[in-house]
Amino acid sequence: MGRPKVFVTRIIPEIGLAKVREVCDTEVWTDPLPPPYEVIRQKVADCDGLLSLLTDRIDAALLDAAPRLKVVSNYAVGFNNIDVAAATQRGICVGNTPGVLTDATADMAFCLLIAAARRLVEGHLYTLSGKWKTWEPLGHLGQDLVGRTLGIVGMGRIGFAMAKRCHGGWGMRILYHDVYKNEKAEQELEARQVDLDTLLRESDFVSVHTDLNEKTRGMFGAEQFRKMKRTAVFINTARGPLHDQKALYEALRDGVIFAAGLDVTDPEPPLPDDPLLQLPNVIIAPHIASATVGTRNAMAVIAADNLIAGVQGRDLPAWVNPEVASRRRKP
Ligand code: DGY
Repeated sequence: MGRPKVFVTRIIPEIGLAKVREVCDTEVWTDPLPPPYEVIRQKVADCDGLLSLLTDRIDAALLDAAPRLKVVSNYAVGFNNIDVAAATQRGICVGNTPGVLTDATADMAFCLLIAAARRLVEGHLYTLSGKWKTWEPLGHLGQDLVGRTLGIVGMGRIGFAMAKRCHGGWGMRILYHDVYKNEKAEQELEARQVDLDTLLRESDFVSVHTDLNEKTRGMFGAEQFRKMKRTAVFINTARGPLHDQKALYEALRDGVIFAAGLDVTDPEPPLPDDPLLQLPNVIIAPHIASATVGTRNAMAVIAADNLIAGVQGRDLPAWVNPEVASRRRKP
């Protein structure tokens, strides 16, 4: 039997690529922009494995064009870009990279929270523009952090890590909304599980850490922003389509909420004429929450291990659809 053939849709850290090359005949897409959908479809036609990014749409039609494909290993913890049900139906394993990006992502959520609450980027631009003339008793006023209430939407690993930072460091009261009860958060952080309306009404900061799926898409719209405090700060480091971007723009423009910090937008990047880009009370980072050297290396190793396990017919270390095990395609 020859070496398995795989397609990697972008250059990822060498520590992962080297592992893949050791075992597989590997083609890597080297352009700085993602391969178009049609290109991926052609490339996977004779591949055993695909290492994809969150920017690649992996749907049923693409999987149908890949009769030998045994595994899709996503270089991300989120996998909303992949039709997992379609992969499972076709006996294809799907892997992701959980755990290793928890702290980096929670750090970014906190970074956005404090920067938006204290109007840091606005102040920086003010300084650069030469408008800073004197110390201003009434200028640049933001929101306090200590002892306030943080609402976590999606109390998984990353939501917990964000809550831990805010509870431990800033003595914040933690509310959370999730379909699951998180005993650890309740015991260690005195977190209280509440319905979404209560969370929106009582929180000073709302931080989103939930999956994107058909139930959560657009869960933050005009109605939800209206239920929040006028002093509230909204943070999204999960996926852009969880918020309705036009409604968010209007809420920020009209003072319905105080500020927002986003690491994700809808679409990504935002369109150049998106009015959100003109507002002073929003900070937008280019989807970089996991972008530290250590985290991206660790993600590359897991993605490589998932890919190799998939093409060799072994259990994936981080397996999104383990239910496929009994009928997966054989190497
Ligand atoms: C993920 O992993 O899902 C992040 O959005 C990027 O690291």
